[in-house]
Amino acid sequence: MTQRTLSIIKPDAVAKNVIGEIYSRFEKAGLQIVASKMVHLSKEQAEGFYAEHSERGFFGELVGFMTSGPVMIQVLEGEDAITKNRDLMGATNPKEAEAGTIRADFATSIDANAVHGSDAPESAAREIAYFFGDNEICPRG
Ligand code: TYD
Ligand code: MG
Repeated sequence: MTQRTLSIIKPDAVAKNVIGEIYSRFEKAGLQIVASKMVHLSKEQAEGFYAEHSERGFFGELVGFMTSGPVMIQVLEGEDAITKNRDLMGATNPKEAEAGTIRADFATSIDANAVHGSDAPESAAREIAYFFGDNEICPRG
């Protein structure tokens, strides 16, 4: 099933200059980048994006980290894009991430963990609409 998912290359990975390396992994896995933009998120944008975690103890640090520098935000499209992207990312805690995953290779800690990826069709739809209008998404057809 062709799906779309929202991916974010977080400030730590942007600072490490590995945007192209990560994009290459998406493309080699058969995912197409159908929208992208670089943004330095405001506190309000980051809080709204991660609203589901607002009661968690790490929320303030998460928002602080996500606003610490620019992020690269993209919509990925392809067969089983949501699961495929989560598999490429690896576990939330890089210490638990499988070798060869993006987080194993580029993340430094559970909070500075290089990438975000939607976890379900509902969150993917919400997260894509949070950052992109329909006219900013360019499927190849
Ligand atoms: P979560 O949605 O659980 O992880 P994932 O990014 O793999 O979907 O958490 C969102 C982000 O919150 C996570 O990428 C990093 C941060 N976070 C922490 O800083 N500490 C934590 O203990 C957890 C669970 C998450
Ligand atoms: Mg999540």
